[in-house]
Amino acid sequence: MIIPMPTSCPPESNRPHASAAVLAELDAGLRADSAAISPKFLYDALGSRLFEAICELPEYYPTRTEASIFARHGHEMARAIGPGATLIDLGAGNCAKAASLFPLLHPIQYVAIDISADFLREAIERLQQRFSHIEMTGLGLDFSSALELPGIVRQEKRLFFYPGSSIGNFTPAQAGAFLRRARAQCDNDGGLLIGIDLVKDSATLEAAYDDALGVTAAFNLNLLRHVNHLAGADFDVRQWRHRGRYNSAESRIEMHLEAREPLRVRWHGGAREFAAGQRIHTENSYKYRESAAVGLLEQSGFQATRVWTDPAGWFAVIHARAIAS
Ligand code: AVJ
Repeated sequence: MIIPMPTSCPPESNRPHASAAVLAELDAGLRADSAAISPKFLYDALGSRLFEAICELPEYYPTRTEASIFARHGHEMARAIGPGATLIDLGAGNCAKAASLFPLLHPIQYVAIDISADFLREAIERLQQRFSHIEMTGLGLDFSSALELPGIVRQEKRLFFYPGSSIGNFTPAQAGAFLRRARAQCDNDGGLLIGIDLVKDSATLEAAYDDALGVTAAFNLNLLRHVNHLAGADFDVRQWRHRGRYNSAESRIEMHLEAREPLRVRWHGGAREFAAGQRIHTENSYKYRESAAVGLLEQSGFQATRVWTDPAGWFAVIHARAIAS
């Protein structure tokens, strides 16, 4: 008997949907001895929603801890920054964090950048209705390897807003290079407001990245669906499991996807076998000591003016100004 395919559910296409550069990046990562896929590929439309769900989890302390720091010290932050900023939100997502600062900060222009362009567009449209006097622009681009701002972005008083410890996805060396690129994109009146997750006990860290409901597992596994779409790959999500472990020597959480059984994956231009237990490294999330975080900024063209933390010392928000060049 032949079972017809329902028209509402077309067969998985293995035609790639990514640019040549993205295909080459995915191909190289999948072929590497230690397979790796960049965490930026966690964020398709569903991945962005799963990340929003992670932020609601009791185990995922960074979002609510950072929010409590903004709630408690937002006025001091606004005073340190001053009014009339060009607020540039790096990895804006649903734009909620920046929006919570608008009533205190009174930016002139809000520029939201995110790799998940469709998700961003919806968020910006909603926000523009609430804050009609702030000029808003959404840019759907990947700023991880190059940061170039189009001409519509005001040059005056650029403040890079980089909350949520997203900087932790970079190695410290990459983070320094990234911050120097941001410094190069502002004048001497520029600055940075950054959230950085701090080193803490490994049980707390590991619970945050391997939660009881399995939302982080779904978030990590969804990367395979995204790669199927981008690279025309044929990953079967059910053949993989989520791993989230703290590597204390490197001071970072590592997320991996681990093959549950021997399997074979094909993608546009390549194929590979994975043994049971073999892994794909999908994310690093570095944790810093406060002094190391301040040091990283200073090596990268920014001078910290204030550091705010929560009472437990789990998370830091730092305002830094551009060191004059
Ligand atoms: C968005 C990179 C800050 O590292 O905590 C959450 C992503 N990964 N749970 C983080 C993430 C797994 C998150 N950042």
